[in-house]
Amino acid sequence: MKSDIYKNFTILSFDELQSTNDKAKEMARSFEVTDGHIIICDYQTNGRGRMNRRWVSDSGNLHFSLVLKPQVRMENIQQLTFLTVNSLKEAVFEIFSEKNLQNMPKISKKWPNDLLLDDKKLAGILIESEIVNEKCDFVVIGVGVNIGSHPKDVMFKATNLAELTLKADKNEVLLKFLDKFADNYRNWLDFGFSGVKNKWLDGAWKLNQEITVNLGDQKVSGVFTGIDDNGDLELKKNDGTIKISVGDVS
Ligand code: BTN
Repeated sequence: MKSDIYKNFTILSFDELQSTNDKAKEMARSFEVTDGHIIICDYQTNGRGRMNRRWVSDSGNLHFSLVLKPQVRMENIQQLTFLTVNSLKEAVFEIFSEKNLQNMPKISKKWPNDLLLDDKKLAGILIESEIVNEKCDFVVIGVGVNIGSHPKDVMFKATNLAELTLKADKNEVLLKFLDKFADNYRNWLDFGFSGVKNKWLDGAWKLNQEITVNLGDQKVSGVFTGIDDNGDLELKKNDGTIKISVGDVS
């Protein structure tokens, strides 16, 4: 294991792990890591996505988990998903602008936790938290970004930076992300969710359009009008607006 410092972050790098989220949780529980520590590895043997789906974690792609100990109410923790996607979008946009502006793809954010390039999935986020005495003890923000490859047999089409003609190294993406995240996180702690929410809605995939949300046991359709302060999706149907906390948008 190698340890580096970048700004206020401590980055612990491993060759192979089952899942950076699992390792981060294990180390946070045993006080080996704390606020601002990052666990990163070359290859995950059991990378996990939302709803316990598998996250394909080829070597060369970016997979890491950030441990935080924010002093906020438990119900606000999901807001970090949107803050993280915003930060990733800003990082990818800036790298494209610096290197390959003429091929800038469409960058959008798909509810709740995906970053899309040209309507295909580039990155996903998995937030997990642990509660002690009814308070949030720590949060683990797991981020997976397809840098040089992406899985082919997935429900929603995926892509990677190289496919979109961007030659970027995973460490470059990580450091740029951390620059953006540090600013956005500070603002969130100081001023709350409203700025994060507005930023996320700007460029949200299919906002104000007709969508279908797969809830697992049923599908519902309506117009995607926004998100609330819990990050729930607001869907306007003929007979009123409903809120959805878990589902797949298409
Ligand atoms: C999703 O799109 O469903 C979320 C994918 C999250 C994947 C990342 S990779 C790093 C971290 N470790 C994991 O096991 N999962 C997250």
